[in-house]
Amino acid sequence: MADGLRKGLTSYGDAGFSLFLRKAFIKAAGYSDDALDRPIVGITNTYSDYNPCHGNVPALIEAAKRGVMLAGAMPMVFPTISIAESFSHPTSMYLRNLMAMDTEEMIRAQPMDAVIVIGGCDKTLPAQIMAAVSADLPTVVIPVGPMVVGHHKGEVLGACTDCRRLWAKYRAGEIDDAEIEAVNGRLAPSVGTCMVMGTASTMACVTEALGLSLPMSATIPAPHAERVRSAEASGKCAAEMAKRKGPRPSELLTPAAFRNAQVVLQAIGGSTNGLIHLTAIAGRTSYRIDLDAFDALGRQVPVLVDLKPSGAHYMEHFHHAGGVPKLMKQLGDLIDLDAKTITGVTLREVVAGAEEVPGQDAIRPRDNPIRPEGAMAVLSGNLAPRGAVIKHSAASERLLQHTGRAVVFESVEDMTLRIDDPALDVSADDVLVLRNAGPKGAPGMPEAGYLPIPMKLARAGVKDMVRISDARMSGTAFGTIVLHITPESAVGGPLALVRTGDQIRLDVAKRRIDLLVDDAELERRRTAIVESGRPDWAERGYARLFHDRIMQADDGCDFDFMRGNGKTSI
Ligand code: FES
Repeated sequence: MADGLRKGLTSYGDAGFSLFLRKAFIKAAGYSDDALDRPIVGITNTYSDYNPCHGNVPALIEAAKRGVMLAGAMPMVFPTISIAESFSHPTSMYLRNLMAMDTEEMIRAQPMDAVIVIGGCDKTLPAQIMAAVSADLPTVVIPVGPMVVGHHKGEVLGACTDCRRLWAKYRAGEIDDAEIEAVNGRLAPSVGTCMVMGTASTMACVTEALGLSLPMSATIPAPHAERVRSAEASGKCAAEMAKRKGPRPSELLTPAAFRNAQVVLQAIGGSTNGLIHLTAIAGRTSYRIDLDAFDALGRQVPVLVDLKPSGAHYMEHFHHAGGVPKLMKQLGDLIDLDAKTITGVTLREVVAGAEEVPGQDAIRPRDNPIRPEGAMAVLSGNLAPRGAVIKHSAASERLLQHTGRAVVFESVEDMTLRIDDPALDVSADDVLVLRNAGPKGAPGMPEAGYLPIPMKLARAGVKDMVRISDARMSGTAFGTIVLHITPESAVGGPLALVRTGDQIRLDVAKRRIDLLVDDAELERRRTAIVESGRPDWAERGYARLFHDRIMQADDGCDFDFMRGNGKTSI
């Protein structure tokens, strides 16, 4: 197969002319024949004024280019969509598959022998890895890195666990307007991704565990010089991969690699979104993440990383404690050390190089875990025939077995309008239910699963309630919250049948979530539901594609036509 500039020639019906024309135009940018004869490493540019998490991308691109050239290849930078969590309407998840398609097509369309994808804000790494897996070109992932921590009145602050905690205090009247404004300027003190174990940090750790990025690259803080040196080293690595034509994602993403990623996801107290993204990434291969197997793994794998929201520290502390290599070392035989990485070495060598940091307490040993079980549990029951997820590491112990009266909100809008209504009939023992907030219903499965505690209860000191939905939740959030109820209500899932006043039973130990209404009554309610056609928002363009082809959470919310062939459960 052709390589370098000769790859994927534009179709003019004359290959010689296509190459002649390509060279003529690229020479307009001042490239020499020597440069144009080298293997090419494409580098994605996801810098955007709308994406402050990616604020260091220009510096990382420069460093990666330097690394590529030091190793004798030629870097070519190209733009793709960038998705910033708080600047994406309706949700960043709605755009993830678009970014994956954009990135994949640009990798396929342009000549390159390897690609470096630089991303970090929640949906970007998943989108880029989904693209890389489908294109199956040698790929190096460079996460942009986490922000450094902020400080307020002697307290360490981090986005966005503390955003939520302090906003809840503000709602409860415990802090005033002036203080919440001061906090607003201190929660995100640098460029980079949220520095708690949110989705961005989770996916950076999962990527490292999959062997798709250099050791330590998940945790180096975004503003640190070490981050830039890691990008240079990533550039060198990508150049070597371009020359060797491997390893490709299909060679690295084995069942062992996916199992390691799931172990790390549980052990870091990772974001529930991480499970959806890992499922989507696996879905692009010939493997399928089995939710029951993931849950069973969670019973064996302890949470060892002491980071918010499950623990106390922040990403920079995890980094200084030894990062993912040290974590994998502590996990011992739970990690398959024969799994290979982009550098060609196995995790055995990566783990052997893990730093010993005397006195560190961010990465616990297995005999002194944060929790003896993993962060997440998969629930099923008559409310969630295809599963639901709870991050029990960040839930209230006393609510993990709870039966309560349902208080139902029909949609995110309905919830927003009524949740703080003083007349809302709700008590602390009730179960808040949100529906029509799934992949298709909302659309884009918003992070609305963290329903706020109704104002009147918050002001009375209630800090947590059982909340259930077909929505997602930010990895930075906490509480006794059941998410990703599948199938979602908008496609006829049983969540659509719940009525205010019904009893709902959550039993995390038994992995159950049930609606305590008899089958005959549920059937009556089901037949009374009138099916609606395609909604107005989905009439044209990407919205129509999304509406018509989006899959459920247990399939990673990918489009059905993007899946890989064959499915072996792992
Ligand atoms: Fe970008 Fe949190 S908002 S990572």
